[in-house]
Amino acid sequence: FESGLLAGKRVVITAGPTREALDPVRYISNHSSGKMGYALAAAAVAAGARTTLISGPVTLPVPDHVAFHPVESARDMLAACLDQVAECDIFIACAAVADYRPAQVQGQKIKKGAEEISLPLVRNPDIVATIAAVEKPPFTVGFAAETQDVLAYARDKMQRKHLDMIVANDVSEQGIGFNSEENAVTILHESGQRTLARATKFNIAREILEEIARVYREN
Ligand code: PMT
Repeated sequence: FESGLLAGKRVVITAGPTREALDPVRYISNHSSGKMGYALAAAAVAAGARTTLISGPVTLPVPDHVAFHPVESARDMLAACLDQVAECDIFIACAAVADYRPAQVQGQKIKKGAEEISLPLVRNPDIVATIAAVEKPPFTVGFAAETQDVLAYARDKMQRKHLDMIVANDVSEQGIGFNSEENAVTILHESGQRTLARATKFNIAREILEEIARVYREN
């Protein structure tokens, strides 16, 4: 891993979950811990990149030399990403963004009463697809968290969202993916794929950045 691999490049990374408020005390979210995205940020700094981390609520320390933007909801995360996109060479979407949010945020705590209630949800904007569709998009990398037909679904996401690369993550496997110390992934891009065997998230992050740097230079 050369230390100058991404020297001078501006890398923006999203990490962690988003929180979608239901009322002043409740939200919808997921089990993303931020570990994969924070490992990518630390590895990007080590590779010499000017690194920005846009993160949903997690409990991890922010890596040194990272410009940090904490956010809560998917819409906050999108706004923060759009603020950074003009100053970005490589965008990596590692966050587990909630696909849906409650249609309405209640102003007061929802009271217990009926045996059964239902919650209308509405689609959130797709952050990585929005970034890939700006006028001068950065080199855009997504993740795909899948539990079945992992590579086929990942390739489909890459094409539908017009991404330059996607990192397929089988989140049905024990000990990798959401909230674990290790990961194992397959990196897909237009002209190839590379499988990374199980390793710490920091080592996986370094390999992902090497692959990004290689494909980015060829682009
Ligand atoms: O945080 P950890 O505990 O370390 O776990 C890491 C991880 C499993 C969360 C990570 O490796 C991972 O797979 N991240 C993507 C999780 C995800 O939500 O995947 P998805 O297949 O639903 O989304 C596909 C891509 O679109 C992702 O790049 C996602 O960031 C992006 N997306 C999704 C929805 C949305 N509204 N906006 C987006 O930008």
